[in-house]
Amino acid sequence: MHIHRFEKVWLALALVFILGLISSIVYGAVGPGIEMIDAEGGTVDPQNLDDTAFADPGVEKVGEDEYEVHVVAKQFSFDPGSPANGVIRVPANSNVTFYVTSKDVVHGFEVVGTNLNTMAIPGQVSKMTVQFGDASTYGIVCNEYCGAAHHAMEGRIVVVPESEYGGPGETNASSGNQTTTNASALAAPSPSNALVEVAA
Ligand code: CUA
Repeated sequence: MHIHRFEKVWLALALVFILGLISSIVYGAVGPGIEMIDAEGGTVDPQNLDDTAFADPGVEKVGEDEYEVHVVAKQFSFDPGSPANGVIRVPANSNVTFYVTSKDVVHGFEVVGTNLNTMAIPGQVSKMTVQFGDASTYGIVCNEYCGAAHHAMEGRIVVVPESEYGGPGETNASSGNQTTTNASALAAPSPSNALVEVAA
């Protein structure tokens, strides 16, 4: 069968484009080490969070350098996380498992400049474990439009040096000066030097 020269060129170009697209999808899926959040966190009744582990959300020490943080997203704050509810404080060099849910509408829970990012869905618990390195302050933003004050829905994770951390008794602690003294550090994290890594 005779194929015109231009048609051959066009076929070759189309193949290159298709292979390029497939390569980019494959790279996006596995290259940056992105770990999707699955259904492992389970479900809750968003109307009755008082009957769940989210009744008293906050930071809890569960082992050596192991912490669990339950976060309730709601219009328009994170509890804990937003300064009014107490910022999230964890020690440096710790493994932290976040459990995030919403009690009203769909929100986002994105830790700025890191690969920690999930939707907060009413009834669904997003579970993710991350490793924090050196002391730093991270901003949390809601990245799902959730209502009139969506743009104001933000919070902080303050990673403090181990020596400054209150230990097992410290849960959901917040004092006014934490949010102000660390404000300058908020600009520090950038995508290129993300200190949070999803634990393997
Ligand atoms: Cu919560 Cu946008």
